[in-house]
Amino acid sequence: MEKGKVDALLGIVFGDEGKGKVVDVFTPKYDVVARFAGGPNAGHTIIFEGKKFVLRSIPSGIFAEDKINIIGNGCVIAPDLFMAEAKELETAGYDLKKRLHISKRAHLILPTHRVLDRAYEAAKGKNKVGTTGKGIGPTYSDKASRIGLRVGDILENFDSKYQALKARHEQILKDLNFTDYDITEEEKAWMEGIHYMSTFPLTDTEVEINQYLKEGKSVLAEGAQGTMLDIDHGTYPFVSSSNTTSGGVCTGLGIGPKQVGEVFGIFKAYSTRVGSGPFPVELFDETGDKIREIGHEYGAVTGRNRRCGWVDLVALKYAIMINGVTQLVMMKSDVLDSFETIKACVAYKKDGVILENVPFETEGCEAVYKDIPGWQCDLTGITDEKDFPEAFKNYIQFLEDELETPITILSVGPDRAQTIIRNK
Ligand code: GDP
Ligand code: IMO
Ligand code: MG
Repeated sequence: MEKGKVDALLGIVFGDEGKGKVVDVFTPKYDVVARFAGGPNAGHTIIFEGKKFVLRSIPSGIFAEDKINIIGNGCVIAPDLFMAEAKELETAGYDLKKRLHISKRAHLILPTHRVLDRAYEAAKGKNKVGTTGKGIGPTYSDKASRIGLRVGDILENFDSKYQALKARHEQILKDLNFTDYDITEEEKAWMEGIHYMSTFPLTDTEVEINQYLKEGKSVLAEGAQGTMLDIDHGTYPFVSSSNTTSGGVCTGLGIGPKQVGEVFGIFKAYSTRVGSGPFPVELFDETGDKIREIGHEYGAVTGRNRRCGWVDLVALKYAIMINGVTQLVMMKSDVLDSFETIKACVAYKKDGVILENVPFETEGCEAVYKDIPGWQCDLTGITDEKDFPEAFKNYIQFLEDELETPITILSVGPDRAQTIIRNK
């Protein structure tokens, strides 16, 4: 961590890599933690001292009492969900009002955006994206169409702006013949959320962040989703609607590229994906079920089964390239403790051709694997890398050699304490 820089922690596969846990572990070293993309489609789990929290819009740096947390301009925010999340933290004893700043430029997710999300998914039939249903796509679409509502709009003449956008959405829904919905209750909670949000500092966060950097403070940018869900670089159209990659850190916070310091790429010792779309390493057998059971691979937002498979080096190399990853963070190694053999996907095969790069269309790619001996012992109690079993050290070395990037942090359990920083 360098003073006056923004380090980024980015999910580099399909999300749910453990970003929340690691941001929480990193926070004491930083002055500010900021989300730069996504919204309540994220579900970031933090576990410490017997407590568990799942954060959606609020940055995972919120548990350190003296740190500023920022929801940046690149984010989208649902006032009702934000209120529920913030109140849960307030009930648990965390005072948020002064420490949580929200960008005036972040876009608002309306109740009708969520209805549109459902309507568009229904219209796609068997090509559904499998969205989280939080209205993410329609909100970013309105942003790009230059008709969206922003947090700063709350401060002036809000009701008429809200009614105008809602009417526009209602017309689209009517045109789509999607009229079987009732947002009366939701809208009430949403308006309450608008009022509640206006009691927080709604600021020009880009100016604020640049001022902090000028003062020599350090910022940690907390990614949401993962590289393969990025709107430009993911498995389009089965992606989310924002730039989840390192470019998104600049646009989503309002900083220049030279202000970015370390780029931490976080991944699991195996792979998961939730929602539809190509996933060459997916296991449909009992091995996949076993990984899901041991890893508790069920969505933090929707409770859906996460699809499971072995680690995918083709996707990881691509993500390291796209993001300019400088250090890797490997999570959930403990989930593989009982496996005799572990596999790693080293290439894809499509129409009989071996591919070492992620192609334009990943659909139809098969994984080509290399076998690696498992360690077959319990990693969860290990606190120092010198106590790692040889076979686990070999797995780490194999990944580092293949990925040409050091793995500097390892996680061997969900608790804050089960994190090992390596002396690299
Ligand atoms: P995020 O969206 O990237 O923050 O990740 P999620 O919170 O959606 O999913 C990660 C899940 O793995 C959560 O349930 C965490 O509590 C859990 N977890 C994180 N690190 C580890 C680990 O090293 N081992 C195990 N077994 N679980 C972990
Ligand atoms: P975190 O931050 C995993 C997936 C959805 C769907 C696609 C589009 O917890 O890692 P959206 O609602 O964004 O329009 O859905 O993206 N998705 C995630 N998968 N982790 C996430 O966030 C995700 N956010 C969105 O399942 O396939
Ligand atoms: Mg998650």
